[in-house]
Amino acid sequence: GKPIIPYEEIGAETLSKLVDAFYARVAEHPQLQPIFPNDLSETARKQKQFLTQYLGGPNLYSEEHGHPRLKARHHPFAITPARAQAWLECMSEAMDEVGLSGKFRETLYNRLVMTAHHMINEYDSEE
Ligand code: HEM
Repeated sequence: GKPIIPYEEIGAETLSKLVDAFYARVAEHPQLQPIFPNDLSETARKQKQFLTQYLGGPNLYSEEHGHPRLKARHHPFAITPARAQAWLECMSEAMDEVGLSGKFRETLYNRLVMTAHHMINEYDSEE
């Protein structure tokens, strides 16, 4: 039957490719690149752990780093509405690159829209 755990539906390999495709775009994005480290390998490793558990797989992130407290972990960075939009655009393009489609892609994307909006911690009048 159809897998009910999203992590099983996407699979570890495609999830890893998705995260790599995503950070390749982040590294090139004029609004995102300035707030991320130059070397994104550790960031990508943590994001693979996080998304594994976000999608119902093993709790890899929490086992190594404790409770995600995602909003608190983003406090050091200015997450503006424009940056949330840029993050989502990079993710949408990465989803296309690795071939996610249909209901699975739509559901995951909509969840990420909500999480990204929740991360916003700065409203810049210049934007
Ligand atoms: C870490 C930016 C949304 C998950 C980070 C870091 C930045 C950042 C600058 C630090 C990278 C580092 O030092 O290695 C943003 C921006 C977002 C956003 C601009 C736009 C809304 C999200 C969303 C998720 C997420 C939606 C989850 C679906 C994470 C995780 C980490 C992280 C798991 C690693 C935390 C740690 O250090 O343990 N993000 N982020 N972020 N972000 Fe985001």
